[in-house]
Formats: sequence, C-alpha cells, structure tokens
Amino acid sequence: MRLLWIVVPALLLTSGCKKHEAPPQQKTLHEIMKDEVDKRGDFLWDLTNPHVGGDAGLDSSTMSDDDWKKLASAAVDLQQAALDLASLKDPIVVVKPGVKIADEGVPGGDSAASVQANVDKDPEGLRNYANSLAQDMADLAKAANKHDAAAAGPIINQLDGVCESCHLEFWYPSQKKLVDQIRKAGGDPTLK
Ligand code: HEC
Repeated sequence: MRLLWIVVPALLLTSGCKKHEAPPQQKTLHEIMKDEVDKRGDFLWDLTNPHVGGDAGLDSSTMSDDDWKKLASAAVDLQQAALDLASLKDPIVVVKPGVKIADEGVPGGDSAASVQANVDKDPEGLRNYANSLAQDMADLAKAANKHDAAAAGPIINQLDGVCESCHLEFWYPSQKKLVDQIRKAGGDPTLK
C-alpha cells in the first residue's frame, strides 16, 4: 500500500500542471520485448553470424575495426533495452487490452493472460533476468571495445540461452519439461 502514497501525489501533480494530458504511462512488457529487445537481439546476431567460426567462437581475423565498433554499439543498445525491461515498475503490464502475443492463437500457445499471471507471481524474478542480460551486454561491449574475441565469443554464443531462460520462466513454463528432455538428448530447443 505504501506505493499508493507515492503514486497518488505524483498523479495529482501531473494533472495539476497539464490538465489535458493523460498521466505518463509506462510501456507494456510486450512493447519493450517486440520493439527493443527482439529487434536489437536480431541486429546483434545479424552482425555477428558472419564472423562465428566452426567452434561457435568469434573469428577475430574477419572482424574489422568497424565491425568491432558496430558490435560494441549493438551490445550497448541491447543492454539499454534490457535495462528498460528491468526498470518496469509494479504493476508490470504484459499487454494493452486486446493485444495478442506471439503464438497465442496456436494450439498449445500461451496467452498474454497466463504470462501476466507468471509475471505477477514474481516481478522481481523477471527484473533479475533482465538485469542479467544487461550485465552480459555490458561485458560484451567491454570485450568489443578491447577487440577481445575470446571474451566476446562465449557471450554471443550463450545469448539465445539467456533469452530462453527468461522465456521458460515467464512466457512458456508449460514447455519446461519438454525443453529439458531435448537438452538432455543434446538437441537445441531454441525457440526465438
Ligand atoms: C526478463 C525476461 C526476458 C528476457 C531476458 C527476454 N525475454 Fe523475450 N519475452 C519475455 C516474455 C515474458 C515474453 C512473452 C510476452 C510477449 O510475447 O510479449 C517474451 C516474448 C518474446 C517474443 C515474442 C514477442 C511477441 O510478439 O509476442 C520474442 C520474439 C522475444 N521475446 C525475443 C527475445 C529475445 C531475442 C531475447 C534475448 C535477446 C529475449 N526475448 C529476452 C521475457 C524475456
């Protein structure tokens, strides 16, 4: 309830100053995921895929100074997206009313309502996952600035696993068992 005491005066203040504007609303989780995290993740993968060697490491011999610069800035961009996710305040809203999330309509697809329930159960856990992605991207930017392929390679290699760990907790926990089985069998269950 303490939150109310902070929020209510802030709303009064806003409506007092700008009578005709709605109080500022934070973005939905879905908006940040689609417009920031996913886009910037794809951008980073597009950038690095041509330089990933046979052992899934980053091949520095094909990386120009400009490639390193682009990688550092892509990492900072994705770090910022993760921080935007991590700084969502309670209550975290998954979607605006009526908005559907990916695969919601297909059999076995999880709904925005079920994601909302998962997030409501553990909003701090969600922020922890987001902060961990942000930390990885800070480390990647540092490695890229030093042209350090040995440090950058594993972070890039593990990135989809970092996305997926959070998805398994909050988006499709129903698939945890299945994913565990695939992993044990040595497969790649990555769903992007
Ligand atoms: C902190 C938790 C978290 C992290 C980290 C995370 N995601 Fe998500 N993501 C979610 C949740 C929750 C959903 C389900 C809600 C939704 O679909 O918008 C989701 C949904 C998505 C979707 C489907 C969006 C849609 O149209 O409904 C995509 C694509 C996606 N994530 C990509 C990524 C990628 C790529 C990364 C890593 C670079 C990533 N996510 C990291 C929590 C996370």
